[in-house]
Amino acid sequence: MTLHNSHEHYTRLRIWDGPTRLFHWSLVVLVGISWFSGKAGIMAVHTASGVAVLTVIVFRLLWGVIGSTTARFSHFVRGPRAVLAYLAGLRQAASSPVPVVGHNPAGGLAVVFMLAALAVQGASGLFANDDIYTKGPLAHLVSEETSNALTSLHKVVFNGLLALIGVHVLANLFYLVAKGENLIMPMITGDKPWPADRAKPPLHFAKPVVAGGAFVLSLLLMGGLLFL
Ligand code: HEM
Repeated sequence: MTLHNSHEHYTRLRIWDGPTRLFHWSLVVLVGISWFSGKAGIMAVHTASGVAVLTVIVFRLLWGVIGSTTARFSHFVRGPRAVLAYLAGLRQAASSPVPVVGHNPAGGLAVVFMLAALAVQGASGLFANDDIYTKGPLAHLVSEETSNALTSLHKVVFNGLLALIGVHVLANLFYLVAKGENLIMPMITGDKPWPADRAKPPLHFAKPVVAGGAFVLSLLLMGGLLFL
């Protein structure tokens, strides 16, 4: 069965909640701003966007525990065996015989790596210095050697992050071009085409007020950290 988008045979299934989508696209914008301002040496903007990246990452970590079904780590973090079996199966089927709901096992692994890299990138930036006059907001808490070491880490992890983002975008294009499966639209609209004759999986969607609470908590945690 090919996954073409015929209105007679397909209906829509909501897979991504609003907060997860908002998180994703704000992250793309914030990482872009951080990259540009870091390269251009506009350090006030760089510090602000870095703290903003950390805030949305803290939110996403909370959301991974209390959020909607497809946003939860328990839903998409799988062992190496499941990831390898999934990757092996990719070469065979023209498109997934059963549409995947949420992140597939390989995508889930990429998400964990990206969130971890972004967290280390942002956290190391808090303690970094640029050798001239900019210091990360928490650099005063550590010695100069530690700050220098974390600055090196900040630079190294960035290269890893770029590689991960490159793989991530290429994987999405691979699904689009080679598999005819558009993963990007669902990350925008929240919905994916779903075979009309197939039962819809029971998905729980957390209430927006819970997301609001988690976001306020993330702001408070990050704000509190900056006053250390
Ligand atoms: C700065 C660049 C980017 C970063 C850091 C990034 C990061 C992430 C993260 C962390 C997730 C997991 C979302 C979640 O569960 O919360 C994700 C998912 C996703 N991203 Fe990105 N992303 C970037 C750029 C892009 C771009 C440019 C596209 C479009 C081509 C894209 C398309 C997607 C899609 C479709 C998913 C869901 C994949 C799936 O169905 O499993 N991302 N991204």
